[in-house]
Amino acid sequence: MIIQKTEAEVALMKQSAMLVSKTLTEVAKMLKPGVTTLEIDRLCGTFVRDHKAIPSFLNYRGYPFNICASVNDVVVHGFPNNTGLRDGDLVSIDMGVILNGWHGDHAYSFIIGEADEAVLQLVRVTKESLYKGIEKAVANNRVGDIAFAIQDHTERRHGYGVVRELVGHGLGRSLHEDPQVPNYGKRGNGPRLKENIVLAIEPMINMGTKDVYTEDDGWTVRTRDGKPSCHFEHDVCVKRNKALILSDYSIIEAEEKANPNLNTSYYNAVSLAV
Ligand code: MF3
Ligand code: CO
Repeated sequence: MIIQKTEAEVALMKQSAMLVSKTLTEVAKMLKPGVTTLEIDRLCGTFVRDHKAIPSFLNYRGYPFNICASVNDVVVHGFPNNTGLRDGDLVSIDMGVILNGWHGDHAYSFIIGEADEAVLQLVRVTKESLYKGIEKAVANNRVGDIAFAIQDHTERRHGYGVVRELVGHGLGRSLHEDPQVPNYGKRGNGPRLKENIVLAIEPMINMGTKDVYTEDDGWTVRTRDGKPSCHFEHDVCVKRNKALILSDYSIIEAEEKANPNLNTSYYNAVSLAV
């Protein structure tokens, strides 16, 4: 069942999404070579609790941390650990909160220091694909319109691998509501979008093969070929003419650009899309 939210509920979900954005903004400030993902996990947990919210991933189906920290060939659901981040690492930080009973759940990928052109392009194209999907999140479109837009930009235009095993989702009083929002599919297929449904749209895009496997820890998803993978996620409310993005990358990006340890050179890249 796809649950439409009232305007008041959307306003509360905006608060939840923004708390995640503010948390990821704190992450953007602290990232540098040597910082461990466990340190990031602790900061995020403390920040969220200080804002009268609960980190929602912790204990979700037994997940043992506040955040997912997915480095390089880890696609999603990476466990924070004691290894310092290194120059060239691509790290996605995914965080969920419950504030006033409503979920926020979004993610951002950062590049530490100098990185390969190929990694910079993967990050740019994955972020672009998220916005191309969001453009389709308007009433009377279908889930497949979002899915197709993401797949078309990443797979057809750039030859990347779109992960099939994991999908975006509805969001509300639960972390995962209907509908599922795949990053691959056909235009005009799938459930019809109604005004004031809230979706977590989250492309997971591999530089190489689309194939992934899950480690013995039961969570960590890695690319089969060991090549890097990128993940961005926004919380989006479907509206009649233009989707309303509840989360906010601009505050994260401001700190990302101000942090000399983070690579934002892909912002200036001329699109290599063909
Ligand atoms: N953004 C991911 C999702 O929506 C994160 C879930 S991690 C988990 O599924 F630990 F909560 F499962
Ligand atoms: Co999600």
